[in-house]
Amino acid sequence: MLSISSISKTYPNGVRALDDVTIEIPVGMFGLLGPNGAGKSTLMRTIATLQQPDSGNIVFDGIDVLAEPDRLRRTLGYLPQDFGVYPRISAEGMLDHLAVLKGIVSKSERKQLVDALLQQVNLHSVRKKALAGFSGGMRQRFGIAQALIGDPKLLIVDEPTAGLDPEERVRFHNLLSEIGEDRVVILSTHIVEDVADLCPRMAILANGQIVREGVPQTLTAELEGKVWRKAIDRGELAQCRERHRVISTHLRAGRTVVHVVDDSDPGEGFERHSPMLEDVYFASLHEKTPAGNARTTAA
Ligand SMILES: Nc1ncnc2c1ncn2[C@@H]1O[C@H](COP(=O)(O)OP(=O)(O)O)[C@@H](O)[C@H]1O
Ligand SMILES: [Mg+2]
Repeated sequence: MLSISSISKTYPNGVRALDDVTIEIPVGMFGLLGPNGAGKSTLMRTIATLQQPDSGNIVFDGIDVLAEPDRLRRTLGYLPQDFGVYPRISAEGMLDHLAVLKGIVSKSERKQLVDALLQQVNLHSVRKKALAGFSGGMRQRFGIAQALIGDPKLLIVDEPTAGLDPEERVRFHNLLSEIGEDRVVILSTHIVEDVADLCPRMAILANGQIVREGVPQTLTAELEGKVWRKAIDRGELAQCRERHRVISTHLRAGRTVVHVVDDSDPGEGFERHSPMLEDVYFASLHEKTPAGNARTTAA
């Protein structure tokens, strides 16, 4: 169990990246969902002991993370958002090297570990190939393998699916769900499907604050009966925004489908829409930044 209490961080340039963040994160996959700039990476780096907050506390399994960073590091695996080391060395050679750095001195123990990790992330057949030639999906799977050295009880993966194609994403999801069975795994993402598919618990971060938290299905159920949709012409959108709480717009077959939130039927030809996690996400962001700031996505 990871307890994060009242963490705040303001950068020297005045940006308040984290504003009194409090969350309890149990064993299993936890999704931290938020748009670019929400503060996800700042929070991930803070938990990973790479930077200090201005105030607050973090406790993991009895370890006071901010006071005892070395103890936390022994049980931490971390895949940073900008994991960018792809040298001409082979996947196998690099993992072996990283295992040495993590203190695994026995050569035979390392060989066994590296083999097992390469099998687990499905890179064993390309273990002799240079990392420099790996695809995005292969790199991210390699990133997971390096994060798993030492069998960490806390694994932090920061936006690992950004830039993966759909097939790679599915493969990566399967890998993460296996890994998340017996440890705390925090997955940060701006992609709603990552959380919907993978995470039994989640939080939405916006402007450095937790704006929603809980079980995805429960959060979705709370919006039941309150989401309405209608296909309109592009030219009607501005007026629609003035009259309703538009949380998102989708292009579908050349028309604009708007989703609005309303406790009762807004009339005007709107029909009830069974809410999805995406509606929860956009509704939460809309509460934080109202007035015509609805998100637009193509579908
Ligand atoms: N080292 C830094 N110095 C100043 N501002 C930063 C720094 N790192 C991040 N920020 C700012 O803090 C906010 C949160 O950034 P970040 O934690 O990277 O969010 P996310 O990972 O959700 O995109 C952004 O406004 C970003 O520009
Ligand atoms: Mg980030």
